[in-house]
Amino acid sequence: MNKAFLLAPSLLSANFANLQQSLNYLTEHHADWVHIDVMDGHFVPNLTIGAPVVKTLREYSTLPFDVHLMVSNPEDHIDAFVAAGADYITFHIEAVVHAHRLAVRIRESGKKVGISLVPSTPISQIREMLPYVDLVLVMTVDPGFGGQSIIPACVEKVRELKKIQRECGFSYMISVDGGVNSKTIAEVLEAGSDVLVSGSAFFSGELDSAIGDK
Ligand code: DX5
Ligand code: ZN
Repeated sequence: MNKAFLLAPSLLSANFANLQQSLNYLTEHHADWVHIDVMDGHFVPNLTIGAPVVKTLREYSTLPFDVHLMVSNPEDHIDAFVAAGADYITFHIEAVVHAHRLAVRIRESGKKVGISLVPSTPISQIREMLPYVDLVLVMTVDPGFGGQSIIPACVEKVRELKKIQRECGFSYMISVDGGVNSKTIAEVLEAGSDVLVSGSAFFSGELDSAIGDK
């Protein structure tokens, strides 16, 4: 099957009592990356998993690990996720002052760097960072929980980022995170997404037929 996008299922909707089984499920269902949502109960109102779990999971999958840091002070956690085997490390613009310094640090660690923005943050806030990142992760729901409905206005950000990418010759990929399901997949792809993150729709099997068509 030739998909025109990369599928990055989110482990947030996996079976936390059997993540190995969930990784196998991913591999069998067209996953290209494993999206790992790291939440600290401070930047977002939820707690999930940290670097020790990522390190353990690394032994059970050869897929790239797409680590989405929804944490305050992400600079304090980079070394741990680098050592744990993350491939992409994405931090939030809202959580840092020195975004450029952090991006350079992640790159110098040999990892791909991503920047993310919550629905209320305009693209102008990440504009200066666009030449320095490998991935722009557009949050299309307020981060913290799976299973929420996509906020339509956020999809416009994908369109705008695609336009900037083409006009300026930037190499970043655009990832969409939140509310991607069989009803919204066509819209987010049409807007220009390169990577689709999906948690609840992927693990419920609801996305299977939509992906099979692509
Ligand atoms: C939300 C997370 C998402 C989430 C997506 O804070 O960043 O990755 O798992 O879940 P769904 O696909 O259920 O909206
Ligand atoms: Zn995420």
